[in-house]
Amino acid sequence: MSVIAIDGPAGAGKSTIARAVADRLGFEYLDTGAMYRALALAALESGTDLANAAALTALTESVDIDLRGDVVKLDGRDVSELIRGPGVTAAVSKVAAVDGVRRAMAAMQRARADAGNLVMEGRDIGSAVVPTADVKIFLTASKEERARRRARQMGLATDEQSLKELSRSIEKRDRADAERKASPFVKANDAVVVDSTGKDVETIVDEIASAALRVIDEH
Ligand code: CDP
Repeated sequence: MSVIAIDGPAGAGKSTIARAVADRLGFEYLDTGAMYRALALAALESGTDLANAAALTALTESVDIDLRGDVVKLDGRDVSELIRGPGVTAAVSKVAAVDGVRRAMAAMQRARADAGNLVMEGRDIGSAVVPTADVKIFLTASKEERARRRARQMGLATDEQSLKELSRSIEKRDRADAERKASPFVKANDAVVVDSTGKDVETIVDEIASAALRVIDEH
């Protein structure tokens, strides 16, 4: 089975690129961030204390999180839109910092990689979840571009002040992800850095898909 890992900070364009690469190669696509978001939603809805690591780990083991393409189901309920809301976005890094939560998530993610060819998008795929991935990409973009993309995606205001605030909240989450002890957000040593600032999606997808085909041919 072949795995393409695409890691990077918030707003770098991971979802768009990962989906398009998967379509191009006929691979499945897994948004691992959506799994953490679904768990954060479950925690908020059940009133689980976000500072209680044991309760969050137990919650991970008791809920059913199912992802097929862009559809995210939590215990059978379609939560694809709910998990993008501001409450979940504010809570997700806390949930994702819990070691027991990450272990359970990583096991689910590896099971998907074992089941077939997969493009996986996240923060720690190349560095921790599947270090043997065939292709590892670290996708970045300038902080201004990341804020602009996220604002457009969420239908938020794009004036200078709003973008500055959004940029600050994105950086705060990236910092929390990078500073946690359990599998922190870090570039894998052997990942190829792709800066998407000012580049169109087609160009980046071409770059990643041809790198993948070269590696897969060699195998
Ligand atoms: O908003 P954005 O698309 O950047 O983030 P996401 O991919 O939806 O991920 C949301 C959050 O989940 C991140 O801020 C991390 O806290 C966590 N996450 C993680 O810890 N490990 C992953 N492999 C993916 C996401």
